[in-house]
Amino acid sequence: MKHFLLPLLVAVTLLSACTQQPLPEANYNVIPLPKEIKLEEGQSYILDSKTLVYFEEGLQREARFLNQYVEDILGFTLGLKKGTDHAVDGIVLKVTPEDFDHSEAYEISITPSQVVVKGSDAAGVFYGIQTLRKSLPVTSHLSPLIAQLPCGTIRDWPNFGYRGMHLDPCRHFIPLDSVKVYIDMLALHNMNQFHFHLSDDQGWRIEIKKYPELTEIGAYRNGTVIGHNGNLYDSIRHGGYYTQDELRDLIQYAAERHINIIPEIDLPGHMQAALACYPQMGCTGGPYEVWKRWGISEEVLCAGNEQAMQFVEDVLNEVMDVFPSEYIHIGGDECPKVRWEKCRKCQALIRKLRIKGDDRFSKEDYLQSYVMNRMAKVVEARGRRVIGWDEILEGNVSETAIIMSWRGTEGGIEAARKGHDVIMAPSSHLYFDYYQSEDIASEPMCIGGYLPVERVYEFQPLPTELTPEQQQHIIGVQANIWTEYISTFDHVEYMAMPRMDALAEIQWNNPKERDFDAFVERCRKISQLYDLYQYRYAKHIFNPQVWTDTVAPNLVTGKPIMLQEEPEERYAYKGATVLNDGELGRGAYNSGRWLGFYGKPLDAFFDLKEPKLMARVRFHANVNKGAWIYNPRQVTVRISNDGKHFLEVGKKEFPISGWNDRDGVFAYELSFEPATARYVEVLIEGYDLPEDHSGYGNPAWLFIDEIEVN
Ligand code: ACM
Ligand code: ZN
Repeated sequence: MKHFLLPLLVAVTLLSACTQQPLPEANYNVIPLPKEIKLEEGQSYILDSKTLVYFEEGLQREARFLNQYVEDILGFTLGLKKGTDHAVDGIVLKVTPEDFDHSEAYEISITPSQVVVKGSDAAGVFYGIQTLRKSLPVTSHLSPLIAQLPCGTIRDWPNFGYRGMHLDPCRHFIPLDSVKVYIDMLALHNMNQFHFHLSDDQGWRIEIKKYPELTEIGAYRNGTVIGHNGNLYDSIRHGGYYTQDELRDLIQYAAERHINIIPEIDLPGHMQAALACYPQMGCTGGPYEVWKRWGISEEVLCAGNEQAMQFVEDVLNEVMDVFPSEYIHIGGDECPKVRWEKCRKCQALIRKLRIKGDDRFSKEDYLQSYVMNRMAKVVEARGRRVIGWDEILEGNVSETAIIMSWRGTEGGIEAARKGHDVIMAPSSHLYFDYYQSEDIASEPMCIGGYLPVERVYEFQPLPTELTPEQQQHIIGVQANIWTEYISTFDHVEYMAMPRMDALAEIQWNNPKERDFDAFVERCRKISQLYDLYQYRYAKHIFNPQVWTDTVAPNLVTGKPIMLQEEPEERYAYKGATVLNDGELGRGAYNSGRWLGFYGKPLDAFFDLKEPKLMARVRFHANVNKGAWIYNPRQVTVRISNDGKHFLEVGKKEFPISGWNDRDGVFAYELSFEPATARYVEVLIEGYDLPEDHSGYGNPAWLFIDEIEVN
């Protein structure tokens, strides 16, 4: 037996003394943090090149992964031995479902002679191996080639059965080998679902044998808009696609890592690339081009054209021939109805089906439900389940559809109440295509928004508005990476990490208590693996900036304040007094230093306690157009001496920020004829989102802080 601790420790200590190196030690505080870690002080298992891995039938691949990881990190390989019955010392891998209440669960027990990894299933063993892998000491100067694993027991299981990330290879094509790296990244984070968005206006990415033009024509566009929504294009022919054989290889690659690939065919909107190949399937008949812009195209599939519906059915059937996934994503987001409203065929179908609009939804919304429900039947006929974006709730979608809630969590809440299963992927917390720093001049350009790791880590996937029974419908959590402004895989990596670390902790643990500082320490550890594997990642959390600005005391600082309209609950923080606590709003709009108002004004009343002379009002707004936050439209100041009758003393309008104008924190000021009063009202009103914004027609958010009156 080679793992008697004492002689080895002596030997190791001697070696260490010679090389002046402390003995490298594993640390089980990995991401996601295991649910139970019990350590026994003072003893270790010594892992070195003489360690044998005993594995049960069916776990050979897991044993090989373990060996590969040890080689990657420690620089030596282990011996692999089939069968665990006669295992004496070494690492033992086995499946023991009777020991667990959950699937994908594992236990690692470390004694001086053995490391036993038991799983509820092969996936559980795999996650146990991931935990071992992440706990290993990463050092480029391992000498001797040895690591010690402190003795103890780790027990762990996931909170959510669906733990996913999405990737969009349509806006920018992503080569197959890079997609494999993405799958490796998911595996490292204990994720088990990869949502692969395979069709969009700007490119069709999956070979469909019945419709070869989809990839001959639809996979390429002749230029791409430059910057944000301008009218300049590059003249680069961009594109690419995956053959069915390549996808089968990818599916196998993912399955070996216990990851399922969910293909998405986005319909009936986001179909312009397909229409460029088959213009007869659009309402106008075209011609169409594979779109060179970003945003939401009005050119959608003609729902009234039976040939177009047949086309989608054929495509879905071929997709299901390739992908064994239980879940098939059929999109359903962002489908404008302007063509359907004017289309003879669509209107004829509406009449034929006797579809009527009501006070909630138009007849065209119900026509979309007809399309989605019809496709759901095609999918369900093959024993699969459909997922759709939350827009598919607009109408009468069948309860069997799983709702992916992306426009906040509201769609997910409504869906769970109606009995749908739900995957939470809200843009407010889980759109990793948004900026992760406010200093956007120092960041690679992206679509906009602001989503720091801190905010991802705050996400609560189980809305308290739901009953425990309804919460059971929240089957999982997912982050999305859209690639309009992400043209290289390096950039994908940079946008993913470390935000996906925060996501992994929520998916796996959904911790009640969240300790961000401890999480950052775990990020430091896993970042050593990122360096080892040469993944790019963002480092903002390792160099936090501290803001400490205050405003000069003024007439309203700390005085009683009353708001006529409440801020949105998520952005209400400690309430109205945020506005006059003397601390200037700095940093992110969701830093707790800003109050957020949606669809209503900020209407604040201050009581100065005695009449005061005043002539100027000043406040700050946080503008973040990608996150739907615009500058104020107008400020009005009124004063009163009895708190009942108010007199307007000043009003000022501010022009709307243009899409290409700088985002950030801006000051707004209004001066008026000096006046004396005890009460003052400051009314700040917002804009609606302008026509060039993807959320056109909705109100813009207002984020305001620190109102000063002098
Ligand atoms: C989406 O972001 N349009 C689902
Ligand atoms: Zn039509």
